[in-house]
Amino acid sequence: MLRTSAYSSIRASLMKGRFQQSLLRTLAFLLSSLVHLCDFKSKKWRRSGDSRLKMLWIIRFSGFFSAALVTIVLSPSLQSFPPAEAIRSSHFDGYLRYPGQTPVVDSLNRFSFRKASAFGNAEECGSGDRQTSGETTVCDPSLVHIAITLDVEYLRGSIAAVHSILQHSLCPTNFFFHFLVSETNLETLVRSTFPQLNFKVYYFDPEIVRNLISTSVRQALEQPLNYARNYLADLLEPCVRRIIYLDSDLIVVDDVSKLWTTSLGSRTVGAPEYCHANFTKYFTDGFWSDKRLSGTFVGRKPCYFNTGVMVIDLVKWRRFEYTKRIERWMEIQKNSRIYELGSLPPFLLVFAGHVATIEHRWNQHGLGGDSVRGSCRDLHPGPVSLLHWSGSGKPWLRLDSNRPCPLDALWAPYDLYGPTP
Ligand SMILES: *[C@@H]1O[C@H](CO)[C@@H](O)[C@H](O)[C@H]1NC(C)=O
Repeated sequence: MLRTSAYSSIRASLMKGRFQQSLLRTLAFLLSSLVHLCDFKSKKWRRSGDSRLKMLWIIRFSGFFSAALVTIVLSPSLQSFPPAEAIRSSHFDGYLRYPGQTPVVDSLNRFSFRKASAFGNAEECGSGDRQTSGETTVCDPSLVHIAITLDVEYLRGSIAAVHSILQHSLCPTNFFFHFLVSETNLETLVRSTFPQLNFKVYYFDPEIVRNLISTSVRQALEQPLNYARNYLADLLEPCVRRIIYLDSDLIVVDDVSKLWTTSLGSRTVGAPEYCHANFTKYFTDGFWSDKRLSGTFVGRKPCYFNTGVMVIDLVKWRRFEYTKRIERWMEIQKNSRIYELGSLPPFLLVFAGHVATIEHRWNQHGLGGDSVRGSCRDLHPGPVSLLHWSGSGKPWLRLDSNRPCPLDALWAPYDLYGPTP
């Protein structure tokens, strides 16, 4: 897709230039007018079916689209500004409007990942006969199941996450990766990067959530694939009884099989909890003042948890139909705004206070930093098994722009992006 590469390079150069907020506002306003014009044209194309005219408009406006996106990403404070909303939703619609068309393929051709070094099980792994992939069936009960999305914009992060998991585990061939995609089939890319990996690619249809997504404070939070975690129980084979769900902006620096064997007790979801965080702020005043809504927390002691690292009992999830419960809250959100973030609040609504506590070492989150100032964050006290760059800053973008945060150096060794040296 055009935005991915153009966007990161423009973003990097803009970061260096440190554009003034006021300039961005003006730019956003101008672009919104252009986007409206383009959107109007796009309706015309579909009626006329004139592909030459369509191409011309795509070429003419692709630059503007990228620039518009950059403006929004760079300036989160703009996001409550009406013209920015207009750009964002137009862009989003445009992106879903042409599924599987050349822009996606084109940008994928520009992705280049090095092959990861070979890996194998240690002797301690017992029946180490799972030496080659292909023979492993997903229903083998000894497997460790891990789900990660492969979003074109976060692909570099997802690949680094997988790489980090393999590097720190004793029995990597016991892992089975479930990759969720919605833009194109990335199987070849994964296979060439990790030739021995046990994995399967699942197509997540953006249409499933399209009508359930409401605008949030950050455009990245509206990506349909962000919501794929709600549907793991349906997407994965019924024989998969437990899954570790991981975000794309993290690295694991410990053996993930320790996380896999964590007891969930009677709970369905396990995650590190943060009970000192102000839980009130995740929902609107309207939510708290409507007892029919906020009454859902009565009898619970709800605490914030981050949905980027979760261990999920899929058997219980299916039995209690948690997907439907989450969808019901998303429908309420569409009609009466009860929160500002993306896929997280419905999880809090359904599970907060009913989560199996996992050690904090498994989600040292927030390393992406502050969304407005792009400031660097430090680790929380205590041991570290997983580093998570949640927040708006991503280590690959900061490294590319030569403005990394100190902890980004810990992400860099797992990066496989770029041609073979
Ligand atoms: C928690 O956040 C809410 C809403 O932002 C605020 O009104 C309240 O004072 C905060 N509570 C504490 C203890 O900081």
